[in-house]
Amino acid sequence: MDMFVVRGGRPLRGTVAMSGSKNASLPIMAAVLAVEGPVTLRNVPHLADVSTLASLLTRLGVDIRRTENDELRLEVVDASACVAPYDLVRRMRASICVLGPLLGRRRRACVSLPGGCNIGHRPIDLHLRGLAALGAEISVERGYVLAKADRLRGAVVDLSGPTGSTVTGTCNVLTAACFAEGRSVLTGAACEPEVVDLGEFLIAAGAAINGLGTSTIEVDGGPTLHGTRHAVIPDRIEAATFLIAAAITRGDLRIDNVRADHLSAVIETLRQIGVRIEREGLGLRVSMGDALRPAEVCALPYPGFPTDVQAQLSALLSLAPGTSVVTDHVFPDRFLHLPELCRLGADIRREGASGIIHGVPQFSGASVMASDLRASAALLLAALAAPGDSVIRRIYHLDRGYERLEDKLRPLGADICRVTDAAENVPLTLVPPLEPCDTAGPPPPKFLQPRSITAELPDHPI
Ligand code: EPZ
Repeated sequence: MDMFVVRGGRPLRGTVAMSGSKNASLPIMAAVLAVEGPVTLRNVPHLADVSTLASLLTRLGVDIRRTENDELRLEVVDASACVAPYDLVRRMRASICVLGPLLGRRRRACVSLPGGCNIGHRPIDLHLRGLAALGAEISVERGYVLAKADRLRGAVVDLSGPTGSTVTGTCNVLTAACFAEGRSVLTGAACEPEVVDLGEFLIAAGAAINGLGTSTIEVDGGPTLHGTRHAVIPDRIEAATFLIAAAITRGDLRIDNVRADHLSAVIETLRQIGVRIEREGLGLRVSMGDALRPAEVCALPYPGFPTDVQAQLSALLSLAPGTSVVTDHVFPDRFLHLPELCRLGADIRREGASGIIHGVPQFSGASVMASDLRASAALLLAALAAPGDSVIRRIYHLDRGYERLEDKLRPLGADICRVTDAAENVPLTLVPPLEPCDTAGPPPPKFLQPRSITAELPDHPI
């Protein structure tokens, strides 16, 4: 298992290009199950989650390989399998994205329920309700979703839930609806750019879809989808993470391969708290203004402030004088990063779905443990800002969603290295010096006088 050793307190300066979006790549890769013919995807990042899904798709009869110019080439070579087993699905919740494509083209699916998650309750009731509305027979048995449909029929499908719409649920139903006879209308649909990117991929494969990016999407079903080429959008969450990295280290970055229109709420929020962000050509230029200002921010479904940037923002607001409040309306329990940020010197406490942040002058290096993907990013940002050494363990969480992050950070001036998680690799500076006891001080109280053994023993009669 690896860990990062970081010597922080150094401003990040230079230019960095974002990778393709993890959360667009995964549903698009899954949708290939519904396509007849070769698919070529550009800008698919090298991530653990992409590899995990590739293993599952291979199990489901898809031939996948990276071409010499780093494109991903996928083609269904055997459409008979329909089981997504627990040993693979448990490794990555987004594996649930194979459900809709399998049902759409193969008309049956047996997909393990996704495992638990450190960011909170993550049911799939909206996925199942939506697919049932299209005519699928759905049951849940022994930890698996069993779905089958002799035919899928167009219907009005509501995808809204108590905490907004469902992103991957919209992806599942949108893909299945491409095979439903007649018109489907998805109401309360997710508007995230990643859903739009999937929809544009499906349109390139022959689907008839209108309303992408709005909460009402219309789909006119057809018999098949054909092979196509598609370039995945840039990762907006990675871009937000680097915007905050520049601010928290008081650096100056130019960020390339970024869609500023996908980051409106993030840019607006960061500007409000004092971060300077300007468009520079097709990129963004970001630096820290005079001083950070506290704020009250709510994480909401798109186009609101993203829940996937909530932890990183909390790290930045930890350095803003005064009191800030970060509330997550999407995942109200997404606060595992708070105690670890406090180990790095932050002053944050949780109150229900909010983190109450009292600004501190600076972080201080420490050993911390990552708990989930975006929490790990928040800890890394704080460690980069903290003067002195820090160690971040369990960085496999980071590798799930950030492509070789240390290789992007080092050219910008970060002192960071990936090492095996072993005691000998932990910098000695991480153990605060314990002042030696003052042996020359006043004598201890009488009852604590050290006793001489000989004075104790009676004279032996011999
Ligand atoms: C997607 O997860 C993203 N993952 C998450 O990013 C992101 O945090 C989330 O959307 C919200 O934006 C991928 O795209 C692979 P949801 P998803 O279904 O689709 C409730 C990251 O860090 N809900 O939109 O699983 C749910 O409890 C990851 O990259 C239901 O009630 O999230 C939550 O409160 C973490 N019933 C809200 O909706 C359902 O059937 C949003 O969940 C489904 C969801």
